[in-house]
Amino acid sequence: MENAQRQELGSIHGIPLYSYFVEKWAQVDAFQARPDDLLISTYPKSGTTWISEIVDMIYNDGDEEKCKRDAIFNRVPFMEMSCPGLISGTEQLATLPSARIVKTHLPVQLLPVSFWEQDCKMIYVARNAKDVAVSYYHFYLMAKMHPDPGTWNEFLQTFMAGKVAYGSWYDHVKGWWEKKKDYRILFLFYEDMKEDPKRETEKVIKFLGKELKKEVVDKILHHTSFQEMKKNPTTNYEMMPTWAMDHSVSPFMRKGMSGDWKNFFTVAQNEIFDAHYEEQMKGSTFRCQM
Ligand code: A3P
Repeated sequence: MENAQRQELGSIHGIPLYSYFVEKWAQVDAFQARPDDLLISTYPKSGTTWISEIVDMIYNDGDEEKCKRDAIFNRVPFMEMSCPGLISGTEQLATLPSARIVKTHLPVQLLPVSFWEQDCKMIYVARNAKDVAVSYYHFYLMAKMHPDPGTWNEFLQTFMAGKVAYGSWYDHVKGWWEKKKDYRILFLFYEDMKEDPKRETEKVIKFLGKELKKEVVDKILHHTSFQEMKKNPTTNYEMMPTWAMDHSVSPFMRKGMSGDWKNFFTVAQNEIFDAHYEEQMKGSTFRCQM
């Protein structure tokens, strides 16, 4: 895999996806969830790694040494991940004892049916579309499994058209927002987590049916702060080979802030984006802070 090249995306049921993932789709579709699996679902760049570390810290009662046992992508396997020469997400998950924490970016209609059948608990994190677009652009630049993003303006058009990996942000958040009415889904927002990490972490603790002492909660909050996660090799993705992620282009732990879009969107881009956003989100009760 030393020579990994950028590749055009394939597609599954109309959703653009990395072609290696598409090749092994049958394994994902047939994935057997267990009743005590916890699913972490997000559109890419919405705080997946952050919520994964919070959940693993809660599972381990705030013991950071236990959470440093392995890289986040091994502790919380990426279910649909497949890449020649690497163990796939489904294979990795098959070897893990219960209770597993499973990561996915799949839109609701592509989630393996066993998760619904088993009525698994799920946590969905949404992040505002503008910051996601900026973060995704930098991720496309540094993570070489993506097609070339082109200029920022070109990428923004691709993002708005839903032609990036995992498709339309708008459809993704709307789909999961609707599903939460009928299933055990804790729906969180990246902006709320930034605003009051304690309040949001306590929601997660409660959702998982745990009770933790104040000192433990404080430890979790410290360990999962952006500054700590940025310097922690098990959470900052520096344990990934550089042919896959080149942090010298843009670090995975880039800025970790809300509102960075203001540094990238021009006034004209913002106006076009807002009009398109309104059109796409028309009729949905989903709201998030920009
Ligand atoms: P930026 O590129 O805006 O900095 P994901 O894990 O879903 O790929 O999301 C990555 C984004 O979440 C990046 O955003 C990253 O910096 C941010 N992030 C990761 N850990 C964080 C933390 N502890 N606090 C705030 N943001 C975090």
